[in-house]
Amino acid sequence: IKKVAVFTSGGDSPGMNAAIRSVVRTCAYKNIECVAIYRGYQGMIDGDFKQMNARSVNNIINKGGTILKSARCEEFRTEKGRKKAYDQLKKEGIDAFVVIGGNGSFAGAVKFNREYDFPVMGIPGTIDNDILGTSFTIGFDTAINTVVDVIDKIRDTASSHNRLFFVEVMGRDVGHIALNAGVGAGAEEILIPEQNLGLERLLDSLKRSKKSGKSSSIVIVAEGDKIGKNVFELKEYVEEHLPIYDVRVSVLGHMQRGGNPTCFDRVLASRMGVRAVEALIEGKSNYMVGIRDNKLVLTPIEEAIKAHTEIDMELLRVSDIMTT
Ligand code: F6P
Repeated sequence: IKKVAVFTSGGDSPGMNAAIRSVVRTCAYKNIECVAIYRGYQGMIDGDFKQMNARSVNNIINKGGTILKSARCEEFRTEKGRKKAYDQLKKEGIDAFVVIGGNGSFAGAVKFNREYDFPVMGIPGTIDNDILGTSFTIGFDTAINTVVDVIDKIRDTASSHNRLFFVEVMGRDVGHIALNAGVGAGAEEILIPEQNLGLERLLDSLKRSKKSGKSSSIVIVAEGDKIGKNVFELKEYVEEHLPIYDVRVSVLGHMQRGGNPTCFDRVLASRMGVRAVEALIEGKSNYMVGIRDNKLVLTPIEEAIKAHTEIDMELLRVSDIMTT
């Protein structure tokens, strides 16, 4: 391996810059050329490349977003698009790439590797923490800390006004953000796609909570939850069936994707970047770098995108006990 490309793809996540920095600097350390690709697979197709050196990534470890920009690219889903991308990589003399992204980005890498036998390595970067083969994805820790921070603030006003808040968080079709931030922020109920609480049980729980002397409550709702109503409909439903509650809704949205990465995400990204480049040097391809039991592990990318990581049901039990 003489020339490695690195790019970010799909939804951005805090810590992606730390991962880019790590890949670029590991290449420099190992005397390998490194090329950055802007705008993910779209930039690959367009030949939007930039030669990197150790100094190109100064002062980015602390920054959210991605200096390389990111995109969800439709053209790369087509054979024609992938052929264009391959031609651009060959023209530039690139002989392997590291993709920092989530499920969709990895699926593209797998296809590309199959078609062109091109060495690829994945680094999981998404706030959703939904990738098999790693306990943590880059950006998840920052996102849950952002959510906890905001809910602490919502708690202040909820408590002043004796209100019930429904707070919607991201996570696509998994509930990792909701569950972890919910326990961390002391939410009354946590609605996640993996376990449908049901409207009746929600009402019962809210009734019990009022009866037990709580004046305000926070219910976290994962965006992929399957209770059958969105947060605004839930508000109306609860107001209608439990008029004792004054209800408000807060949809946190994309603020969860921004902000300076936590130390945990920076360290994780730095470790994964080193391992990704080293694995390519060892001749490995088509793997994703993950972390399990605080050890870096390689999982075939195909495996990593097969399913989502399972929710920690014990955490749900802890949450139930905590809301006594
Ligand atoms: O995958 C990250 C994520 O933020 C999800 O939690 C969310 O469902 C989705 O991306 C939002 O995508 P977009 O930024 O394209 O609206």
